[in-house]
Amino acid sequence: MDRSHIKELDAQYIVHTYNRYDVVVDHASGAVVTDANGKEYVDFCSGYAANSLGYQNEAWLDAVIGQLKKVQHASNLYYTEPGPLLAEKLVTRSGLCKVWFANSGGEANEAAIKTARKYGNTLADHKKNTIISLKKSFHGRTLATVTATGLAEAQEVFAPLVPGFVHAEIDDAEALEKLADQYDPCAFLMELVQGEGGVHALDQEFVDKAAELCKSRDILFIDDEVQVGIGRSGTLFAFEQYGIKPDIVSFAKGIGAGLPIGGIICGPKTCDVLVPGDHGSTFGMNPVACAGGCVVLDTMDDAFLESVKAKSEMIRSELLQMKKVTGLDGLGLMIGIDLDGMTGSEAVNKLMEEGVLAIPAGQRLRLLPPLTISEEEIKTALEAMRKVLDQ
Ligand SMILES: Cc1ncc(COP(=O)(O)O)c(C=O)c1O
Repeated sequence: MDRSHIKELDAQYIVHTYNRYDVVVDHASGAVVTDANGKEYVDFCSGYAANSLGYQNEAWLDAVIGQLKKVQHASNLYYTEPGPLLAEKLVTRSGLCKVWFANSGGEANEAAIKTARKYGNTLADHKKNTIISLKKSFHGRTLATVTATGLAEAQEVFAPLVPGFVHAEIDDAEALEKLADQYDPCAFLMELVQGEGGVHALDQEFVDKAAELCKSRDILFIDDEVQVGIGRSGTLFAFEQYGIKPDIVSFAKGIGAGLPIGGIICGPKTCDVLVPGDHGSTFGMNPVACAGGCVVLDTMDDAFLESVKAKSEMIRSELLQMKKVTGLDGLGLMIGIDLDGMTGSEAVNKLMEEGVLAIPAGQRLRLLPPLTISEEEIKTALEAMRKVLDQ
């Protein structure tokens, strides 16, 4: 189909909640996307951090297609094999206890919030149900996760929002303690590396203080790893690098490698909070997505995670030599770039012309390449980036 016709259909028939770039994606391989005009782009967006294994990953395709041919969906009325297998892998690798599967990051955080509320209302040392999240955080688009989100945009028009959410300053341990004194929360909800808020890795000291408050006051630590999790940070979970043990970890994006899946991993305090009837999702634990997720986790062994760190170092050291780059933030292959005299959005448009897909995050430029990106693909992208960022 002609690309202009695709855009016309989109304009006429799709509810416009997205501002799309002028690229019609046609096909992709490795970390390279080809548009409908045949132009190639090195993909430093990877479907918003979802395509963790890039495109045409054979082991993942085999598992997904193999499962499709066996049974594509059975519902949670019955047992299927891939979900429990994937849950076992997630539990073993995280050191937590049990998994609940959803289909997206927002839905994963919704499950985390419901778990925390039930814990606070019925099981904690005393009844409490306020959740403290952070300013500039992003947790999803459901009504509760929009409320938890600490970015002011798109909230008032959906009023009344869900009660019981408070936002704390980022990296201000003293302010967090004061809010905890004031609001007696049942949970903290935070991204250890904030994505939409500008790719910011939280300060270790702040995270340590939050973890200490959780321990001493029976507050649950909910770690939203929807964007940074599943290998992107250079460890399977970013919390490993912070040396903490969350009570709930939410995950999505990268574990699906391009298919919709999300969920929460619960620790000892939270793994038996939700019981039959409390929560559910028709497509949760879908066997096709879970069969693919098993390949994702099996692929992400120690050597793979070391390669994520090495690629991150390679990109970061090259970026720091470019004239317009004034600072870097983030962790692993989730990179936020401060630019001199150019917003992240401006850079994205220029990079697209040069054959690189990237995205903005606040004022910053954000890079989220597939974790399988090759050295050669990185070199091609860096060469294109120099034309924009080293002038
Ligand atoms: C940290 C974080 N949490 C939650 C979400 C929401 O995920 P989804 O769009 O899959 O609902 C996102 C999406 O970008 C995210 O980055």
